[in-house]
Amino acid sequence: MTEQNEFPESGRVQTRVLGTPPADAPIVDTDPVHAPEGVPGVIPQDPVKARKAERLVALLFLVTFLAGAGFIASYVIFQVGTIDRTATSNLALGGTLALALLSLAAGLTVWVRRIMPKYNLVQERHEMRSDDDTREYVQETFLQGADESGFVKHRLLRRTLLLAAAPLGLAPLVLLKDLGPLPGTSLRHTVWGEPTKDGKPRRLVVEGSGQPIRAADFNSPGGILSVVPEGYEEDLNALAKATLILLKFRPEELKSGTNLNWTHDGIVAYSKICTHVGCPAALYEQTTHHILCPCHQSTFDAADGAKVVFGPAARPLPQLPIGIDEEGYLVAKSDFDVPVGPSFWERGDAEAEVREKAS
Ligand code: FES
Repeated sequence: MTEQNEFPESGRVQTRVLGTPPADAPIVDTDPVHAPEGVPGVIPQDPVKARKAERLVALLFLVTFLAGAGFIASYVIFQVGTIDRTATSNLALGGTLALALLSLAAGLTVWVRRIMPKYNLVQERHEMRSDDDTREYVQETFLQGADESGFVKHRLLRRTLLLAAAPLGLAPLVLLKDLGPLPGTSLRHTVWGEPTKDGKPRRLVVEGSGQPIRAADFNSPGGILSVVPEGYEEDLNALAKATLILLKFRPEELKSGTNLNWTHDGIVAYSKICTHVGCPAALYEQTTHHILCPCHQSTFDAADGAKVVFGPAARPLPQLPIGIDEEGYLVAKSDFDVPVGPSFWERGDAEAEVREKAS
């Protein structure tokens, strides 16, 4: 398909070709009659060098196989847990995978460069430079636009515009700050472990109203409440980890997975943050005692330590130790003993510490 453009000032007519070139247009010059001098076409590889290269490629692929097998073996042998074990696992997995990928890439590169035949290809292209008329026309248009914009004439506007743009240029550097600092141990703790200003255990209050909960008033088995820490009702960062669901059971309903020392008169508190990827899990099925997470349907048995009975979550909702203060209001006796919410890389270390302390 061809199209004609006319440049108004020069009156020049230019032919422009759009779309896929016709099948008979020369893209690769294979006709030796038209090939430039010194373009011999296919250059076969030296057979002696090609054989050597073949052995080298085979060796590299063998290394890839061994490193790949080493990666799988490392996954089985080196378990995460303590910091040392996690570091050894990282080193073994990363080292073997890097070696496998590097040797595979090197093998493929040598194969292509030293074994496959080479070609000298000639691709015909039109001249990239525009003709003088076009260049003159573009230059005039540009200068006219610059003049009309007043960028040159209005010094005040020009300077304030440049001033306004300067902080925007620095914005990407400011965003780099978000790369750190590392969270440290902050993911392992919630505000439930912090006493109030007067040194008392923190009360559980109803989400939304901020009402403290008197244990004696929360007396209907099958009831469920969404609960937050007193003093942090508006702190979204704290609530993202500390929100709870509170349930009441008849004593005979609670099974062995629930830590009875952390309950009060059949009242149990679990983290509301799903251990899969952190959605609020608060749909409750009273007859089965199942807590459902609406995001990916993880299901937890609230009567049995909130253990997972269905879905992608890999661990129970953590249980919070609760009791009552001198006025009969529900309070947190301590923080969770394991990190809440979705898994993160060092979570295994925190849980290993808990197991060590308990044993
Ligand atoms: S976040 Fe709860 S199931 Fe995925």
